[in-house]
Amino acid sequence: MRIPFPAQVALSAVAGVVSFLVARWVGEAVVGHLHAIPFALVVLAVVLLVARFGGILFALPVGTAAILAYDWFFLPPFRDLNEAAFTLLGTFLGMAVIVGTVTTVTARRAVEAERARGDMAEVQASLRRLALLIAQGEAPQRVFEAATGEVRRHLGSDTAALIRYELDGSTTELACEGAAEPKVSAGLINRVRETAHSSRLDATAVGVPIVVNGRLWGMFAVGSVEGGLPDDTETRMSDYTELVATAVADAQSRAELISSRARLVAAADEARRRIERDLHDGAQQRLVALALRLRMAAQDDEVAEIGGDLMTVIDELRELSRGIHPAVLSENGLRPALRALARRSPLPVEVDVELPRRLPQPIEVGAYYVVSEVLTNAVKHAAAQVVEVWARAEDGSLRLRVHDDGSGGADFSGGTGLLGLKDRIEALGGTFDVSSPAGAGTTVSVRVPLSG
Ligand SMILES: Nc1ncnc2c1ncn2[C@@H]1O[C@H](COP(=O)(O)OP(=O)(O)OP(=O)(O)O)[C@@H](O)[C@H]1O
Ligand SMILES: [Mg+2]
Repeated sequence: MRIPFPAQVALSAVAGVVSFLVARWVGEAVVGHLHAIPFALVVLAVVLLVARFGGILFALPVGTAAILAYDWFFLPPFRDLNEAAFTLLGTFLGMAVIVGTVTTVTARRAVEAERARGDMAEVQASLRRLALLIAQGEAPQRVFEAATGEVRRHLGSDTAALIRYELDGSTTELACEGAAEPKVSAGLINRVRETAHSSRLDATAVGVPIVVNGRLWGMFAVGSVEGGLPDDTETRMSDYTELVATAVADAQSRAELISSRARLVAAADEARRRIERDLHDGAQQRLVALALRLRMAAQDDEVAEIGGDLMTVIDELRELSRGIHPAVLSENGLRPALRALARRSPLPVEVDVELPRRLPQPIEVGAYYVVSEVLTNAVKHAAAQVVEVWARAEDGSLRLRVHDDGSGGADFSGGTGLLGLKDRIEALGGTFDVSSPAGAGTTVSVRVPLSG
């Protein structure tokens, strides 16, 4: 049981009076039998013990009163207990209690300030850890779990949970740290949802809303079986709710960016396909018909020659439309399409591609354009002797590498080809890296997750 501080002060004054009485009684009993120095040492030893277990607040009045009694009743001349003696005793005791009280209060404040500083440093460290995770682009689920763990540690609660409010009115528990009990009550979840403000069930559970871009997104709940949650729990959680809101907003905008890039790439692919169809169904057919009519109507060499030229133009047009969106890719898949690219390249190209099955169409198209552009770059810029194309489907990803042994020095800022590929691959949730040290060839590495 903790005694309130004013009561402790009163008690220390009483202890001073008691110690005066006891010292007087002992002093009168042993005077003449005991030497002054050993008795003084005994008195000091007692004061030391009181200081050790009761602190300065008790040691000062006890010591002052005991020494007065020692002086008055043990060392001659002995003193009469008249009014002056009581006044002196009262004054000494009063001074001892005041000094003891001031010293104790100052010491306690220093300890509290030290503890608050320690707390603050701990909170800063834990917020820094979380901010680092967010900055590193860690998956939201990892951030949620880490934040929930930090909240629980920070508040010393038995349990902490992160809950998301879904649009259909349901809720999802994204993370739960600590003990399974106490469970977050539905009442608390609903109250925070309805009011969008913090809410508490006495000292056993507190819920704090998380607002993302002005919309109530979810809540943090902490619970304590024994009801030991401090009064300022809500304020102490606010830094954490803000960080989680930042992480969520960050993840949302990243997801939106990826899907808008994907939409752009898909729209560009669709446009290419339409051009190919239009060329094939429209201009190409009419040119073929024209060439046939010319051939039939051919009277002289000149006209026959024009017919022949026209056929060449048609072939070129066919090649072109195939390049825009190669039929071999949609019909036979990535491996044959890459081999066709390799055959058409003026450079020797070694193709080492093993894919057990067809891949999702956007991935096949993306990989095809990567190889096509990088082969073109190798011819245009690298003065390479040979190009190697390697691809595997491993660990749920397509991994693709194209290497040339040319001059190196490829640079995203030099044109639009490499940048367009990077956009296209990242729109698929993948990574696109170029390593091109001067004089050591160029390697383009691509990794695309096969699922979603
Ligand atoms: N394999 C390579 N070897 C050496 N330099 C390269 C290689 N690939 C690209 N580069 C350099 O990097 C620059 C950027 O390449 P990128 O493909 O983006 O543009 P580009 O080929 O110049 O033009 P385009 O937009 O028509 O593709 C090139 O201009 C070239 O200087
Ligand atoms: Mg290029």
